[in-house]
Amino acid sequence: MPLKNSNSRYGSISMLLHWIIAIIVICLLCLGFYMKGLPIGFQKLKYYGWHKEYGFLILILVTLRLIWRLNNINPSLPMSMPAWQRFAAHAVHYAFYFFLFTMPLSGWLISSAAGLPVSFFGLFVLPDLVAPNENLRLLFQQIHFWLGWGLVITIIGHTGAALQHHFIHKDDILKRMLP
Ligand code: HEM
Repeated sequence: MPLKNSNSRYGSISMLLHWIIAIIVICLLCLGFYMKGLPIGFQKLKYYGWHKEYGFLILILVTLRLIWRLNNINPSLPMSMPAWQRFAAHAVHYAFYFFLFTMPLSGWLISSAAGLPVSFFGLFVLPDLVAPNENLRLLFQQIHFWLGWGLVITIIGHTGAALQHHFIHKDDILKRMLP
């Protein structure tokens, strides 16, 4: 399978990044909503640590994905697709990039404002983006929470559309993102 995209399908690098990011982001959303409700203790701290490390990994992966996308052609949408659906497909892709950059950044801001440095798998510690400040921490928490719901809605719309193309329109929109 070619590494690069072609006019008709995605190449292996785009596919790999797409599916790795999808799996990690869905796990991060579930873990994020779950870990908040846990009582303070070792398990909560462990989950917060994982959430931050994998969350920062998303920032790296989505940057690579964007660089790869900008340096590649993208498979074109079927000519039979109505203009509004093409518009919606592009809007959802932009929304993903928006959420996948702002989620990790707002999370990083929460930790900075809380005065809790973030270690990246023990390799290095992220620099703090702001000085510790309780009001800012609460603000970034709210932003992270609402961005999370925005991302959930975007994922539902994107997955629903992909499944509709595959099972109802029976075109190759989903297949071209599969090996
Ligand atoms: C794509 C990446 C990320 C996703 C999808 C994500 C998702 C979430 C979600 C859904 C929550 C629960 C929100 C709530 O109920 O208030 C959450 C909480 C949290 N996230 Fe993230 N997150 C991401 C990246 C990060 C990063 C990179 C950090 C820090 C470096 C981070 C730090 C936090 C913290 C500290 C909380 C708990 C906030 C609190 O206790 O109120 N997140 N995240």
